[in-house]
Amino acid sequence: MKKDFLCLSDWTRQELENIFTLTRDLKAKQKAGIRHHILSGQTFGMIFEKSSTRTRVSFEVGMMHLGGHAIFLSSSNTQMGRGEPIKDTARCMARFVDGVMIRTFSQQSVEEFAQFSSVPVINGLTDMYHPCQIMADLFTVIEHKGDYQGLTFCWIGDGNNMANSWINAAAVLGFELRVATPKGYEPNADVMKRAADAGARIVYTNDPQVAACGAHVLNTDVWASMGQEAEQQEREKAFAGYQINMDLVALADPDCVVMHCLPAHRDEEITDEVMESRHSIIFDEAENRLHVQKAIMATLMG
Ligand code: CP
Ligand code: NVA
Repeated sequence: MKKDFLCLSDWTRQELENIFTLTRDLKAKQKAGIRHHILSGQTFGMIFEKSSTRTRVSFEVGMMHLGGHAIFLSSSNTQMGRGEPIKDTARCMARFVDGVMIRTFSQQSVEEFAQFSSVPVINGLTDMYHPCQIMADLFTVIEHKGDYQGLTFCWIGDGNNMANSWINAAAVLGFELRVATPKGYEPNADVMKRAADAGARIVYTNDPQVAACGAHVLNTDVWASMGQEAEQQEREKAFAGYQINMDLVALADPDCVVMHCLPAHRDEEITDEVMESRHSIIFDEAENRLHVQKAIMATLMG
């Protein structure tokens, strides 16, 4: 039966570990210049209803490394953007391509697409989740720290798609997570409840200093996500005090790493100084989108 990559909670710890193992292997092969055309002759469709730099380029280049071909589709010039039902697009796409990635607004749209698609579907970001990013982030932590187990992760800022996916990851993989958001900007309530029911070790607070204290991994994201641009000013007020700056880094573990999925608003949610500091693993994190997504495509389509 085909499997989709829509939400980290749909996967077991062992399955995610297998993706990390394959990522390591594919990354080593690429760095050594060893051909790894494991999806030779396959075609991958990428549907974007929101902007992207990293996701688009990493999937497209990744598919080329694997011996296949990727097609970029934007909602502004496909029939989906003119209101063609998702279930019709999904069924037609599956007659042409071997796998699909979608970046869109609602998680329900991605789930409906997957339901009607006979080929694997990958979530390239919704308002609810960004699972590929969290896989790249965790792989980067493993590279820098040896393992994610035994580390304290913290999320500072908006309870957005990234925060929700971190909560899912903590529930599946069992690491300790602290989430600091302003009141009114907490993560999704159902996501928090499911994680609690699964026995996840997560602390929620409104105090970024409490979250950062002694933490090994500090993580943040923009205060206004795609689709929330009109709320930028009111969010800047609500999130004042939630910036990752050198004062906050000083409270964390002396060898802490700092992450950001990018794009960043420098000197807003994170200072330029922190982004350029020895703590920042942000550009390794960006690169690992390529390696981890190759492993995800190979797992689903190989
Ligand atoms: N982090 C991330 O998904 O970047 P893009 O929006 O550029 O794809
Ligand atoms: N939370 C951000 C992530 C961008 C990669 C957004 O949804 O815009």
